[in-house]
Amino acid sequence: MPGLTLGDSLPNLEVETTHGKIKLHDYVNNSYTIIFSHPGDFTPVCTTELGMMAAYADKFAQRGVKLLGLSCDDVNSHNEWIKDIEAFNNGHKVTYPIAADPKKNIIKQLNMVDPDDTQSPSRALHIVGPDKKIKLSFLYPASTGRNMDEVVRALDSLLKASKHKIATPANWKPGEPVVIAPSVSNDEAKEMFPQGFDTADLPSKKEYLRFTVV
Ligand code: BEZ
Repeated sequence: MPGLTLGDSLPNLEVETTHGKIKLHDYVNNSYTIIFSHPGDFTPVCTTELGMMAAYADKFAQRGVKLLGLSCDDVNSHNEWIKDIEAFNNGHKVTYPIAADPKKNIIKQLNMVDPDDTQSPSRALHIVGPDKKIKLSFLYPASTGRNMDEVVRALDSLLKASKHKIATPANWKPGEPVVIAPSVSNDEAKEMFPQGFDTADLPSKKEYLRFTVV
């Protein structure tokens, strides 16, 4: 993915939002922050996505994570659209700010442009860390709405991996065993994970697939 990607610093842009002007670094402050873009206001999939984000806002707040939406129309349009979003999504209030980008400058700087249609944002989503660096990015085409359970799951993986030397395996869900990072030797793992770990018995006899619970 060209442009802003994993490990890069979020540009400290000043953006107009439904909550007033925001400087991105001030908004992130010391929190994990999810910035998610949408092709446009008053479009069907976007209306379901922003509403689902509103419904999931408590899950993100419980994890200390901030939300910032973005759509390429102006703030007046966003404020009108929010009425539809809330009405369609059982009245869940859109409590997070939605940035305006009518000139499509922000989407370029945040690498949220649809490569197939450079005039439109894709459904991009960046999870930014407290250090203002990009920790994870999704890039979906306009035709595919995002799954907010997957956003929460990926976020939980990131948060766990930021606290322990672990990674999460395929289809992992919170509460399930994680794998110990390959950089950790067995001796180190015994100290780091006093709860113990199970090593998969593989044909290679290499002891690299080690499961623990954290
Ligand atoms: C939508 O939100 O439904 C949408 C927006 C742009 C292109 C296709 C779908």
